[in-house]
Amino acid sequence: MYDDNPTLVGIDKPHDENRQGEAFFPGAEGLPHTGGKHFYIESYGCQMNFSDSEIVASILAESGFSPTRNVEESDLILINTCSIREKAEETVRKRLQYFNQVKKHRPGALIGVLGCMAERLKGKLLEQEKLVDLVVGPDAYRDLPTLVGTAEDGNRGINVILSREETYADIAPLRLDSNGVTAFISIMRGCDNMCSFCVVPFTRGRERSRDAFSIAAEATDLFERGFREVTLLGQNVDSYRWDNPETGQTVTFANLLETVALVHPELRVRFSTSHPKDITDEVLYTMARYDNICKYIHLPVQSGNSRILELMNRTYDRDWYMDKVRRIYEIMPDCAISSDMIAGFCSETEEEHQDTLSMVEFARYSMSYMFFYSERPGTLAARKYPDDIPMEVKKRRLQEIIELQTKISYQHNINDVGKEFKVLIEGDSRRSDQEFKGRNTQNKMVIFPKTGDYKPGDYVRVRILEATSATLLGQVVA
Ligand code: SAH
Ligand code: SF4
Ligand code: F3S
Repeated sequence: MYDDNPTLVGIDKPHDENRQGEAFFPGAEGLPHTGGKHFYIESYGCQMNFSDSEIVASILAESGFSPTRNVEESDLILINTCSIREKAEETVRKRLQYFNQVKKHRPGALIGVLGCMAERLKGKLLEQEKLVDLVVGPDAYRDLPTLVGTAEDGNRGINVILSREETYADIAPLRLDSNGVTAFISIMRGCDNMCSFCVVPFTRGRERSRDAFSIAAEATDLFERGFREVTLLGQNVDSYRWDNPETGQTVTFANLLETVALVHPELRVRFSTSHPKDITDEVLYTMARYDNICKYIHLPVQSGNSRILELMNRTYDRDWYMDKVRRIYEIMPDCAISSDMIAGFCSETEEEHQDTLSMVEFARYSMSYMFFYSERPGTLAARKYPDDIPMEVKKRRLQEIIELQTKISYQHNINDVGKEFKVLIEGDSRRSDQEFKGRNTQNKMVIFPKTGDYKPGDYVRVRILEATSATLLGQVVA
């Protein structure tokens, strides 16, 4: 469904998992083959994880490893993992079994687990299950070269210490599998929100914001290298706050957005994810003021029912969320809003589920990532509320949400037929090398036949001729 939509979470099966595993390779700016040792890295989960893999690649490149896309010729096989739902972890386990098969033909190769599963399971995959040689949590990537050495010597290569400070601010990510046009910039790490269903605060630790100057410098550098779009990443970007140690001034998310927007009018700025409780009018007005800040907000509602929202510890209720949506459309009538929703959370009744459906209608989401509730060990919900909705009910409710969202997305897109949009070309469409794909400001994927000398990184005006629930189809206009 969201086939041509490569920068958001949930591409392949948005209703099912976050991004599926993708092997990461050197892209437009890949490193030359140095003839030394090789690493292979596969990433699962959210954009933050994909962004972290680029930091890991940079750290490894500094210590003499080159990336390879062939797992069978790698000396270090890494898997950057996600714990958000049970299925995400199952997928990783299957991959680890496969990597262990590969290793049989490549004695000496090391297998390392990174990211959220490493943090959640700590030594378990290493000692009890003997599936890996290295376990490295999200705040310990600087230690990776040392840990590789430790494991090579036959010792336990593990570091899962979470940090209150680490933001990897000084590390220039090695852009992997890059289209040379769009890039992620991580602006903060961790999460302090404690939504009751969510494992992230346990796997990623406390929230901390990255030095604003290093973010602006990274955006400037990307622009100078030809990139035309940056997505500022964090679990909750609206609570970004950085105190300048020299002036004592506080940089808010609105300030940061403006700073990055001012890097260049031709550099588009996106951000993800916004927590409804934290997005301020100041942010909305900043978005409205700058043409190059994209008119698109990912504003996960999770549930449309106030009682469930309370159990989820989301700290807003249905009315409060609806007011936020009204405010967005008031300040930016053309803004697209998308969402995440969880079907079948603990004790959810049919009426409460209906509230989620009516929220999809009310908010007119352009698209959503939809999931059924998956209990995660150690979370508040796992400790306090029984996971009491039968699987078939969860799946049926999820299906109802998906069907309604697909209908609303289609209506949203059909509305665009006849309109013209400024589209940033990202590359060839998946279907054909005779067509380009790119996105408009609302983050909608637009497909159109190639004409003229346009190339990836160029902006073109495209008139929309047709639409599906996932894509707009159009033609370049002069
Ligand atoms: N920080 C983001 C979400 C990160 S996780 C936010 O607050 O919006 C991405 C999505 O996964 C969540 O929005 C939620 O919809 C879903 N999710 C998280 N934990 C889940 C669980 N235990 N079961 C099912 N879906 C879950
Ligand atoms: Fe999880 Fe909530 Fe934090 Fe998002 S805001 S990462 S859902 S705890
Ligand atoms: Fe998954 Fe960790 Fe991201 S649990 S969604 S990879 S923060």
